[in-house]
Amino acid sequence: MRPYMGTPFGRDVHLSLRAEQQFWAVSFGYAERMAEEAGQNSPGVMLGGVYQHESRTQHDAAAIGYPLIAAAIAGISAGLGSAPVIIADFGAAQANNSLRPVALALDRIRSSSPDVGFTVVHTDLPHNDFATLFDVVDRSPESYLNGRAEVFPFVAGRSFYDRIFPPSSLTFGWSSSSLHWLSAAPAPIPDHFFVHLSEHAPARHAYRACSQDDWTSFLDHRSVELAPGGGLVVVDVLRGDDGLVGSEALFDCLESALRQCRDDGLVTHVEYDSLVYPTWFRSVDELRAPFTPNFVGSAGNELALLDCITTVLEDPFAALLERGEVGDYASAQAGFLRGFLSPSFESQLDPGRSSADKNAVLDEIWRRTAERIAADPHAAAPAYRLSAVRIRRL
Ligand SMILES: C[S@@+](CC[C@H](N)C(=O)[O-])C[C@H]1O[C@@H](n2cnc3c(N)ncnc32)[C@H](O)[C@@H]1O
Repeated sequence: MRPYMGTPFGRDVHLSLRAEQQFWAVSFGYAERMAEEAGQNSPGVMLGGVYQHESRTQHDAAAIGYPLIAAAIAGISAGLGSAPVIIADFGAAQANNSLRPVALALDRIRSSSPDVGFTVVHTDLPHNDFATLFDVVDRSPESYLNGRAEVFPFVAGRSFYDRIFPPSSLTFGWSSSSLHWLSAAPAPIPDHFFVHLSEHAPARHAYRACSQDDWTSFLDHRSVELAPGGGLVVVDVLRGDDGLVGSEALFDCLESALRQCRDDGLVTHVEYDSLVYPTWFRSVDELRAPFTPNFVGSAGNELALLDCITTVLEDPFAALLERGEVGDYASAQAGFLRGFLSPSFESQLDPGRSSADKNAVLDEIWRRTAERIAADPHAAAPAYRLSAVRIRRL
């Protein structure tokens, strides 16, 4: 990682990250098939068979928040009694990228409260692939369950834009690569699948407004749930002060593939208009906006924003490019896009299409995307801007 120097607020850091691969074998596929059969794929939900194996970028991204975990817990851990401590993972997907941060939080709390028991709650949308999540938590060699007694994993299938926990019950909350997903796609984007690359002012306005409301709503619910002194670390994608997110060229390869599929009649014009990535990459100013200087929730509880780190994540697949393995590089990048976009795109295709037909269309979109990346891989290489914030309930 190299520091992103674009913001006056960000405390820039240089983190050296070990690009670990988590491609260990688990039995997945059952939950994916069940969800498909039930027509349950919905925007934002990541299915285990794909996301779990295509989320190396998000795995590397999460590490930017690790140094904030100890400080996030420091406000409360000394005062813990014998009641179980609740740790939340907001927007877990299959939890493979949550194992390490949860383990860090558990160890930190145990270092000052050795006898305390834990409830770890992985939250996600109701149609998330929770079956694979349990498999990951139970069977991964990296699981926080390994070597730690009295730790009990649970899930909550509920939006993080709603209340999930009782008042003042939460000691620590973690969220990585999830909060840019909006509560809904607030408007059509006529000229691009990604609103930050759209020239359409009404779409940008609607997405920006939705992002503000969602961020405020997330903070409001957490301000009720966190115990006084409790902490939250949120790692997410970032839009820099220059308006860039760092993956414009990569995303344009996909947009170009989508347009070609539309022009070739593979997807209809109506489908093309519906294919959107319902997210907003917040800037530091947008993250800070609700804190004036503290955030005051509707119940009167206050949250303070204590740290904001910004950085740039180097391309996780750069080694392939350096070795000249252009085909593999293009497949890896297209696979990454596929990992988080396929469920949304699948739900946005004409519902009259069969599941097999949808899969064939999506396969062609990813094949054409990879083709475009391979045509000029250095130009397509991303450098994602990231933020990590630490928040404390006062
Ligand atoms: C890109 S994945 C990130 C998963 C994981 N935290 C990681 O770092 O790899 C985004 C996750 O956020 C979830 N998500 C999106 N909107 C959500 C919401 N409103 N409430 C809860 N989870 C949500 C999606 O279902 C998905 O699992």
